Amino acid sequence: MKRIVSQVKTSSAEFKENKTAFLEILSEYRENLENVAEKRSESSLKKHRSRGKLLARERIDLLIDPNTPFLELSALAAFNMYENEFPSAGIITGIGVIHGNEVIIIANDATVKGGTYIKESIKKHIRAQKIAFDNRLPCIYLVDSGGIFLPEQSNVFPDRFDFGRFFYNQARLSGLRIPQIAIVMGSCTAGGAYVPAMSDETIIVRDQGTIFIGGPPLVKAATGEEVTAEELGGAFVHTHKSGVADHLAENDQHALQICRNIFENYNPEQKQKLKKFSSEEPFYSPEELYGLAPIDYRKSVDSKEIIARMVDGSLFHEFKENYAPTLITGFARIMGYPVGILANNGVIYSETSLKGAHFIELCGQRKIPILFLQNITGFIIGKQYEHNGIVRDGAKFVHAVANANVPKFTVIFGGSFGAGNYAMAGRAYDPKLLFMWPNSKISVMGGEQAADVLITVKQDQFKAKGEELSIEEKEKIKSEILNKYNNEGSAYYSTARLWDDGIIDPIDTRKIIAMGIAASLNKEYPDPNYGVFRM
Ligand code: COA
Repeated sequence: MKRIVSQVKTSSAEFKENKTAFLEILSEYRENLENVAEKRSESSLKKHRSRGKLLARERIDLLIDPNTPFLELSALAAFNMYENEFPSAGIITGIGVIHGNEVIIIANDATVKGGTYIKESIKKHIRAQKIAFDNRLPCIYLVDSGGIFLPEQSNVFPDRFDFGRFFYNQARLSGLRIPQIAIVMGSCTAGGAYVPAMSDETIIVRDQGTIFIGGPPLVKAATGEEVTAEELGGAFVHTHKSGVADHLAENDQHALQICRNIFENYNPEQKQKLKKFSSEEPFYSPEELYGLAPIDYRKSVDSKEIIARMVDGSLFHEFKENYAPTLITGFARIMGYPVGILANNGVIYSETSLKGAHFIELCGQRKIPILFLQNITGFIIGKQYEHNGIVRDGAKFVHAVANANVPKFTVIFGGSFGAGNYAMAGRAYDPKLLFMWPNSKISVMGGEQAADVLITVKQDQFKAKGEELSIEEKEKIKSEILNKYNNEGSAYYSTARLWDDGIIDPIDTRKIIAMGIAASLNKEYPDPNYGVFRM
């Protein structure tokens, strides 16, 4: 493969300015992450600790193999929502490694409103189970939760992808021979009781874990019976009498060790074969991404420069180098894993779409995972392009992306606007994982464009009535829409609502994609299966 030759002058004023601006964005991002991980009320922390319990992130650290990374997902879920009373939506999810097996971990954070579930916690839980489905990853539930956050019940209880879906998923996952393991480390009430009960194997911590359909107050109100939580559904009861749990642990550490022991004897099924090469650092430092990450979207960024700082040895075998240059396509390796990369380098034309669809077919035939690097304003518009069938060709691209059966990974490193989001494997196209850089933006179109469209529509309405839209009214529409798009288009707005799997530091992109590919190898990649490409 050929090494990409960078044209970037890292000593230039432009590069340095971008880097300074990016470092500010990055420091805000790190501060936000630190806050959601650590900022809790004194009283809830004290109560938790006084019970001899570990914090959710400490539990995860002890559960996974020493010195292995935990790929935390959607750490900023519910960010700037609910007056920030639900850091990380009160639940920690991600991919970790136990005895060499990639697993999904779903851990309630009891220091956040008793580990109860709001809409975003549920989305996180179900998203983690979806990743388990897609990659055949065992699930471990570290349960410490009061169940549904009752004031939000209408948003979390009844619908298809609400609370009840957890247990349906557990049954289906178990049916696919994907292990479901629960460790009950605190409360497990009402519907929540089904998390351990629906698991293949359950561990419960003495004097901490409780499982019951109705807690003591409910029992008293309904039947008059007075009973303590421990007597009703404590660890001793469930391991000696009811049989709801299988292993009795003395404390958190012991429970986590039992769970690790379960994986010592795990016998995973045949995995997908993918030729792995030895890993090599990029020739150009990934830290230089800070000087390149798009901040001012009016300036274009050569995405080959981004690729050069992400792939092994900055080596890239470009496909159709001289054709349709607004989409860069080619093969490379990330931490030794082969990948096919599609990266935007401008708007999408007809020939760009054909190039993208062709390249995806190559990856599908060769069973090579695909990485989409999004920085896209959308498809080209105008009479000439419509007459030439831009929609028809765009549809081929979208069709190829939707039906590509190899794992897709998407990283939004700049803008993600309009149908470009779809063609480049946006959330609706089921990439295995989708991440955003903290500078990135996502919306149906840019704020300026949306304001122009709406002003034109209003003007036409006024004209039809023989009236004129005043300059003040135009300004008002414009500023309202700009504000709205600015807010709703930010990476934080997206990640709070789980439109992605998290915001990441650009220099971690390599590591994260490599972990995603490693996890994807737990399931065989199906053969390509395309439908009708409109010709
Ligand atoms: N809905 C809404 N809020 C809840 C809640 C629920 N189901 N369960 C707990 N909370 C809130 C509490 O009001 C409290 O809020 P605050 O921090 O603003 O004061 C916070 O979560 C912590 O609760 P607290 O009872 O002080 O903590 P704890 O660690 O002693 O007990 C539970 C935690 C979950 C065991 C206990 O609160 C409980 O039994 N909750 C009810 C569980 C239930 O019946 N759920 C049924 C829904 S499916």
